[in-house]
Amino acid sequence: MTLQIPRWSPDVYAKAWRFASWFHAGQKYGGVTQGEQIEYINHIGSVAMEILAVAQLEPDFNADFAVQMALLHDTLEDTRATFADLETEFGIAVANGVQALTKSTQLPDKRAQMLDSLARIRLEPREVWMVKLADRITNLYHPPFYWNAEKIAAYKLEALLILEQLGSASTGLAHRLREKIRNYGENRISG
Ligand code: NI
Repeated sequence: MTLQIPRWSPDVYAKAWRFASWFHAGQKYGGVTQGEQIEYINHIGSVAMEILAVAQLEPDFNADFAVQMALLHDTLEDTRATFADLETEFGIAVANGVQALTKSTQLPDKRAQMLDSLARIRLEPREVWMVKLADRITNLYHPPFYWNAEKIAAYKLEALLILEQLGSASTGLAHRLREKIRNYGENRISG
């Protein structure tokens, strides 16, 4: 039996990391404790790390594509980067994947936006599905300090929907997401 470990290129990673850190520069999000602000690029690095952590377990896996998707996944939704920028720098497959991971703000509410994005993700290669799973895993590390129990419960429900819709893309990530959902909001670190 040949052991096939997916290869990924540090040069591909570095180029996408540079693009993401340039466009997300200055963005921060609320941390676990009162007043804590975390650089946005921390989230981006965590999503890429979650992808690489399962890469060796995934058959027929395009690791370079997945890494680019992970590093660029929020650039259309949260920065001034455009679809054309992504297509020029990384090609049409990456641009289409990031587009699918981007919520359409023309839809009336967050639930409709999520369902629409999930439906579009399901038309993309499974590496795109995996990045959505990895994204939610990292978002479930700890609730921000200012979230109440109701908000936490709603976020868990939404995560279950993501797991149900996309979990078949990766046994490893589905398992990890299920665990994160189960433990989310338990043992909160108080500020
Ligand atoms: Ni994200």
